[in-house]
Amino acid sequence: MPGLLLGDVFPNFEADTTIGRIKFHDFLGDSWGILFSHPKDFTPVCTTELACASRISDQFKKRGVKMIALSVDSVEDHRSWSKDVMAFNSETESVLPFPIIADDKRELSVQLGMLDPDERDKDGIPLTARCVFVIGPDKRLKLSILYPATTGRNFDELLRVIDSLQLTAQKKVATPVDWKPGEKVMVIPSLSEAEAAALFPSGVTTKELPSGKKYLRYTQP
Ligand code: BEZ
Repeated sequence: MPGLLLGDVFPNFEADTTIGRIKFHDFLGDSWGILFSHPKDFTPVCTTELACASRISDQFKKRGVKMIALSVDSVEDHRSWSKDVMAFNSETESVLPFPIIADDKRELSVQLGMLDPDERDKDGIPLTARCVFVIGPDKRLKLSILYPATTGRNFDELLRVIDSLQLTAQKKVATPVDWKPGEKVMVIPSLSEAEAAALFPSGVTTKELPSGKKYLRYTQP
């Protein structure tokens, strides 16, 4: 992803979307944000992804995360495709609960390093990969994931990741492999034993290791 690193201020781009023209930072307001890109409208994997994102949109809302999708087609195509997506969910009376950015000139896809050189349209132009950007309320990039067009994402994993990002933004902890909310977390290595004891009154348990080093420290957040 050339040019955009974790911690960078996310570009305040302007774009046409299914809810009209937006300035990205205004769209986000004080919320967290998730921007997920798609290779093309009216394609099968993308349709299953958007349908899933729509079904669990309340879960993003509950976490204070504004959702926005992007694909390299026009607003008109996005509106038509959205109806297919809702029909896939058997919810023909409802509208897609988040906007889609029309990046038909691929300007944002280029700016944000999202093109997948291995997947091209019928004219040989690269399609957008499946990028995920999570942006914090400070407008800085907190996470980016890049999947090729041929691999659909797991949106439950995105919720899990957001839970970790939001927790670790508040507390000096890190979440271990496969962590889920409610489970123990790790005390970050930069904290001394005294600092950890003061910060985590519920207690810190340290696992004994052959090295004798006391770095595997768990606490209940
Ligand atoms: C899809 O969404 O199904 C797809 C799009 C581009 C390349 C491969 C699959």
